[in-house]
Amino acid sequence: MNVKKIAKITFVVGGVVFVLIQFVQPNRTNPEVDQSKTMQTELNIPADINALLDRGCKDCHSNRTVWPFYAYIAPASWLVSHDVTEGRKHFNMSEWGKYKLSKKASKLSGIYQAVNDHSMPLPKYVPLHPEANFTDAERGQLAAWAQKEAEKLMGGEEE
Ligand code: HEC
Repeated sequence: MNVKKIAKITFVVGGVVFVLIQFVQPNRTNPEVDQSKTMQTELNIPADINALLDRGCKDCHSNRTVWPFYAYIAPASWLVSHDVTEGRKHFNMSEWGKYKLSKKASKLSGIYQAVNDHSMPLPKYVPLHPEANFTDAERGQLAAWAQKEAEKLMGGEEE
């Protein structure tokens, strides 16, 4: 076989595989949100902080995910769905009301830490979502808020 023929076969097989994997659809659901149980409602989050959580976190840490077009095209769709599923499992602002006090406090200090050390928003998310590219001032603002709220809850627990 010559190189041209091999290239042609590779192209056709690749195309068939690409079409076939489209049938493997990942989970892309946005479960219904009970507004009375969200972190926003419970903590009465100021608008400027909420805007940051919306810009940088809600796609993976709430049930209000905005699914991008590539969330519909395998194999990218599998990766997106995986991040959202994992993100929601670890910390879901829409299901905040289900967490115990100690869990809330630890999630808030987790936010403080993750924002401070730049592990969140997930770095691979940022190039495709420029609005999640926080300035240092915005990071500082979000981290300070999370720390303050964590302290409030921990104080409350001792009483
Ligand atoms: C692209 C998806 C994505 C975005 C956007 C994102 N996260 Fe995450 N986050 C994850 C995933 C996945 C995990 C779990 C695995 C890990 O820790 O890397 C996680 C874990 C966390 C944890 C640890 C929770 C725990 O206690 O285990 C915190 C806190 C967190 N994220 C906060 C944030 C904050 C705050 C933002 C916005 C500034 C944000 N994340 C943006 C996907 C995301």
